[in-house]
Amino acid sequence: MKEGAASPVIHDSLKRLEYRGYDSVGIATLHNGELQLKKDQGKIDDVHKLLNLDDLKGNIGIGHTRWATHGAPLKINAHPHLDCTGKIAVIHNGIIENFSELKLELENNGHTFVSKTDTEIIAHLIEDNITKNPKYCLADAVNETVKRLEGSYAIAVISTLEPTKIVCARNESPLVLGVNQNGYYLASDIPAFLPITNRAIIINDGEIIIISSEGYEIRKINDYSIVSREPKTIDWTPEMAVKKGYPHFMIKEINEQPSTLRNTLRMQDHYLDLISTFLDRAKDVFLVACGTSYHACFAASYMFSKLAFLPTYPVYASEFVEQHGKSVNIDSTILAVSQSGETADTLSSVTCAQQRAATILGLTNVIGSTLTRVSRVYIGQQSGPEIGVAATKTFTSELSVLAQLALRLSKKRGKVSQDEMDFLSEKLEKIPDIVETIICNQAKKVKQIAKKYKNAKVFFFLGRGISAATAYEGRLKLMEIAYVPSIAFPAGESKHGPISLIEPGFPVVFICPKDGSHKTLISNIMEMKARGASIISIIEEDDEIIKKLSDDFVEVPKGIPEILSPIPFVVPLQLLAYYMALEKGLNPDTPRNLAKCVTVK
Ligand code: G6P
Repeated sequence: MKEGAASPVIHDSLKRLEYRGYDSVGIATLHNGELQLKKDQGKIDDVHKLLNLDDLKGNIGIGHTRWATHGAPLKINAHPHLDCTGKIAVIHNGIIENFSELKLELENNGHTFVSKTDTEIIAHLIEDNITKNPKYCLADAVNETVKRLEGSYAIAVISTLEPTKIVCARNESPLVLGVNQNGYYLASDIPAFLPITNRAIIINDGEIIIISSEGYEIRKINDYSIVSREPKTIDWTPEMAVKKGYPHFMIKEINEQPSTLRNTLRMQDHYLDLISTFLDRAKDVFLVACGTSYHACFAASYMFSKLAFLPTYPVYASEFVEQHGKSVNIDSTILAVSQSGETADTLSSVTCAQQRAATILGLTNVIGSTLTRVSRVYIGQQSGPEIGVAATKTFTSELSVLAQLALRLSKKRGKVSQDEMDFLSEKLEKIPDIVETIICNQAKKVKQIAKKYKNAKVFFFLGRGISAATAYEGRLKLMEIAYVPSIAFPAGESKHGPISLIEPGFPVVFICPKDGSHKTLISNIMEMKARGASIISIIEEDDEIIKKLSDDFVEVPKGIPEILSPIPFVVPLQLLAYYMALEKGLNPDTPRNLAKCVTVK
């Protein structure tokens, strides 16, 4: 900034980003060539009360609110992180995949680490580059450092070595520059600086940006060539900016799935291995969860059985104690799945199982949540905060992590050939792109379907095999968001009762991947069609047979393996619930009577 202290401006901007999650906060500034730093765990207001974040001196600085990915939400893990000399401060969003290797290398070179984060290695790598190449300026050192990082990052670096500069770089994590006469404001999201300026430049993947009081310079990380890009005017209101221009969080989060799914492919091998080892040893495996997370567990029971030949019991957490409380024992393993990590029913199942000496494993989106504290081993699914009450991106991420666990276990048990493993792993890598294609190509069609069926009194959702889980989730979404009474069954079961409801025009949604049960599913479609049902099918794009039988269809790219199919096939169902809610004039982000996190039993 040209005038005024940076820290109150950074503090205000961090407050505007608090909706993205917070478990700790920190600010570092440069004043008279010295680094000043304050950070602690807790919400911004609480940390400010304790430390006064506004009295750091200097007109240049960096600040961060953290959503823990590596390391618990503790003061030592809060950003900014420093190198050994305390001269370089770094903040970072994203996940560095090769951090364990880099950390080992740096430790062998004499670097000492104080935190459990992946971020801290960046500060030490920059230090290492400067020590080894005394001619390097800060930007050179940052540029060489980011070349060694695998994964996603948006970083900002300041240093006493060049106390008038901030150097930032980006790969797959958002970074934007706000510009006005009084200064430059780099942030992960436009709302951070929108009240200060609406002139902004989006920094692209593979770019580094250097700002100083003289101006800004954007360069390509690869060849250090200059990029010229002028600021654009952002005409979003602050409320629109928080939703990235989308009208609701739910649709924003549906659209985030390609990127959140990419994040699930960056899990640390070590934790996947540990969890699959525990699963392998267990006598009984219970998959325990509520709501949408339960549907992920239900799908996972097919994955574990089909890939690893491991029988598992998916159980509603609210029923676990009654149903299995007495049978669970020291040989049992509980894999508790909870986006929030705080759902009361899930936690009480865990407590019950723990008292009976069972092993507790966790899968959650919130590092530092109770579930992470009570689990022997846990995995953070890295979806980022989910604001819409209806779980969308966190569901597909849970599925992706569970599929990876099933693959690990399968490998451990030698149950699937190497060719099959390679095929499935390759397909898993492609799922984010497939989901992107579905959202781009099919959203309009789903919107028309919602319009057509907006007055339907009730919906059926049917699928066979693992697609029964997809059907359950589709039903839950439509019910909770659009208040349409809905029924879901495994398709084969529909003739044992539910079919009596069918009369002409009754909408029945079929989930139809081209898997082993495809032929039988066609018979189930015929049964419904014969009774006048309107068939809405979610099909693979070359499925001409079901296309002909359907009144309406939504297409997903072909060739998706059965065990991965719930991930792409649920996306049109999320969109259907969303557009149905809009057709009915409802706000999908705040469905009545529901809470994002249910902390009562
Ligand atoms: C609530 C939410 C659901 C969620 C369920 C389980 O009912 O409204 O969206 O699926 O809790 O939450 P969890 O955080 O344990 O996954």
